Amino acid sequence: MAIVKMKGTYDILPSDSYKWAFMEDKIRQVCQIFNYEEIRTPIFEASELFHRTVGETSDLVKKETYDFIDRGERNNTLRPEGTAGVVRAVIENKLYMEPINKLFYIGSMFRYERPQKGRFRQFNQFGVECFGSKEPIMDAEVISLAVTIIKAFRLKGIKVRLNTLGDDETRENYKKALVEYFTKYKDEICSDCQVRLEKNPLRILDCKVDRDTEIFKNAPKITDYLSEEAKTRFNKVLEYLKELDVEYVVDPMIVRGLDYYTHTIFEIEASIEGFGSQNVMCGGGRYDHLVENLGGPSTPGIGFAFGLERLLAAIEAEHDLTSDIQTHLFIIALGEKAKLKAFRLVNDMRLGGLITEMDYLDGKLKNQFKLSEKYNAKYIAILGDNELDNNVINVKTPNSTEQVTIPIDSLYQYIVSKLRSCSSCSATCGSCNCDCEGQENE
Ligand code: HAM
Repeated sequence: MAIVKMKGTYDILPSDSYKWAFMEDKIRQVCQIFNYEEIRTPIFEASELFHRTVGETSDLVKKETYDFIDRGERNNTLRPEGTAGVVRAVIENKLYMEPINKLFYIGSMFRYERPQKGRFRQFNQFGVECFGSKEPIMDAEVISLAVTIIKAFRLKGIKVRLNTLGDDETRENYKKALVEYFTKYKDEICSDCQVRLEKNPLRILDCKVDRDTEIFKNAPKITDYLSEEAKTRFNKVLEYLKELDVEYVVDPMIVRGLDYYTHTIFEIEASIEGFGSQNVMCGGGRYDHLVENLGGPSTPGIGFAFGLERLLAAIEAEHDLTSDIQTHLFIIALGEKAKLKAFRLVNDMRLGGLITEMDYLDGKLKNQFKLSEKYNAKYIAILGDNELDNNVINVKTPNSTEQVTIPIDSLYQYIVSKLRSCSSCSATCGSCNCDCEGQENE
């Protein structure tokens, strides 16, 4: 029996991979403009790393990690998210010595979740992590980078939701209020939340079972427990965002599912058809204690991650990403001698930067024309043994019956001149409808 892919995984086939390349290219461009540098960390780390960062009581660590013991009896975990590994790398490589580190990553993450639309067991994230500044202006820059990604893909129907978890004092007071409140409903909340009530009351608000009940809706809001300092800080973040015309809503019910957050947290939601509740494309926030908790010097940090499957689905819901990649030239060879020369010509054209193809199936003329259609060739050159003896080659466009005969040595120059933008229509000649006949734009 044939082996099939594992549940919650999927293949990216050539019919889609160009869309991923397009998306990742654009992300890299935006990161470059904002001066974020790429970091690549291992796909697996010591299990303890995630226990100490993401949190023992989070669903992620309790139920969703892919853990394995290797042949050396070490506990390993496939990374369920990118922040922990980046923080580990920052400490291990002493990157914190720099006043500011602005980092980004693109890669696969693994979570043992129930697969559904927009939710996979192996999925991809684009994330950024910024270390060194605890200033509200840094929060605003990071959020504005996420919003710029959205703008770069011209996405509408987006909602940025913000909240603050405040400082240590805020969270202590808020936790007490939550314990007091939920203790009254102890018998009505789910068994997981009963445990959370004792171990990590903030996590209760993240409950996937009871989130929409009246008990939860009437629960204390963190905004009522903010210390003066935390309130002033959050208002400053909002002020900076307003300055950049970033539209947002403050939502006191967001707590995020990971334990490392302090102060600003945020999510970006998109209306993606068929995604239901899996419409959160991006989540992030500040984590000022994380570097220290993992053994580094006290270093503030903030970041976010986009789920790339969801981002791509949102892009495709609004834009047609059909590939318009065209092969510049397809060379048809007829005869053994011509085939050898065509092989050489294809290579020369490619070295000159032209997307060039030929037949590798020993096909008949008709089949070679068919293949040139599959490759969406802009120009077709036909070389037979006769032409070869006379050092010429025939060139035509796919839909025309007319062809020109040119010296073989001028093929490259000829195709390049045809492809060059023309001055009258500024489009690539051959694809425009004007009558410029491929005049060169000098
Ligand atoms: P997260 O909210 O767990 O945050 O994940 C970020 C995004 O990854 C989600 O908003 C979602 O789009 C996507 N995602 C999560 N799980 C899945 C899944 N099973 N299938 C498909 N997409 C998924 C983090 O991971 C934090 N590390 C973000 C961060 C960076 N915070 C600070 N820095």
